[in-house]
Amino acid sequence: MRQEKARIIENKKIAKDVYKMVLEAELASLCRPGQFIEISVPGYFLRRPISICEIEEECLTIIYKVVGAGTNVMSGMEAGERLDIFGPCGNGFPEVDGPSLILFGGGVGVPPLYELAKHNKNKTLYVVLGFNSREDVFYADEFRALGAKVFIATMDGSCGTKGTVLDAAETHGVRTGLVMACGPLPMLRALDEAYDQGYLSLEARMACGIGACMGCVVEMKDGSMKRVCKDGPVFEIGSVKL
Ligand SMILES: Cc1cc2nc3c(=O)[nH]c(=O)nc-3n(C[C@H](O)[C@H](O)[C@H](O)COP(=O)(O)OP(=O)(O)OC[C@H]3O[C@@H](n4cnc5c(N)ncnc54)[C@H](O)[C@@H]3O)c2cc1C
Ligand code: FES
Repeated sequence: MRQEKARIIENKKIAKDVYKMVLEAELASLCRPGQFIEISVPGYFLRRPISICEIEEECLTIIYKVVGAGTNVMSGMEAGERLDIFGPCGNGFPEVDGPSLILFGGGVGVPPLYELAKHNKNKTLYVVLGFNSREDVFYADEFRALGAKVFIATMDGSCGTKGTVLDAAETHGVRTGLVMACGPLPMLRALDEAYDQGYLSLEARMACGIGACMGCVVEMKDGSMKRVCKDGPVFEIGSVKL
C-alpha cells in the first residue's frame, strides 16, 4: 500500500451523474481486480473508497457516481490537477479456474468487474449489468469489446430486460456457474440466495480504510466478524450474513 498525489489524466461524464477518471499513479502496478483506493477529496477529512475499474501501466481508471459532497468536488476536477490517493486496499477477487464466469454488476458496482473481466478474457464471460434506467447505463460496449456476452437489466425496462439482474439472467438462460458480483445489498442478497458458488464484493461506510477502526465490520454466518476494508470487500458467496 502506498500514498501518492496522482495526476488526473481525464475526468469525464459517461452516464447520468457518473464520471470516469483516469489517474497517473505509480501504485497501479500493485493493484488487482476488486481492490479499491482511498481518495482524499480537497476540503474533506475522511477519504472516499472507490473501486479500481481498470489497471494499465502506471494508470488507474475509476468510475464514480456523484452522490454527495466529496464526489461532487471530484466531478469538478480537471486534467492536470492532483488527487491524494492511497491503496491498493482490500483483498480483491481471487483467481479462479474453469471455462466460464458470470459477472453481475449493479450501478456503481459495475466498475470493479471490468478489470476482472480483462483478467478472465480466456473464459466464456457472461456479464449481466443492472441499472435503474437507460440513462444510467455505462460500460456495456467496453465489456462487449472484451468478447463478453453482455445482458442489461433496467428497473424501468427502458433498456434490456425489465427488472433486476436476476431477471435478465433468467431471460437469457444464464443459470449455473461461478459468479462474481458487486452492487447494492438487495442485489447481493438475491444472488447469495440464487447461486452457491462464487464471490460477492460488499460496500460499507468506512473511516480508516485499513482495518484499524473496526468501523466497517460485517457479521459472518459462522458468527465471526470481518472488516470489509481489510478482510474484504470480496467474500465467498454464502459466508456473510447479508
Ligand atoms: C469498497 C468500496 C468501493 C466503492 N467503489 C465505488 C465505485 O467504484 N464507484 C462509486 O461511485 N462509488 C463507490 N463506492 C461508494 C463511494 O465510496 C461513495 O459513494 C462515496 O464515498 C460518497 O462520497 P460523497 O462524499 O460524495 O458522499 P457523502 O454522503 O457526502 O459522504 C459522506 C461520508 O460517507 C461515506 N460514504 C457515503 N456513501 C458511501 C458508500 N456507499 N460506501 C461507503 N462510504 C460511503 C463517504 O466516504 C464519506 O466519508 C464504494 C464504496 C466502497 C466501500
Ligand atoms: S474502515 Fe476502519 S476497519 Fe474498515
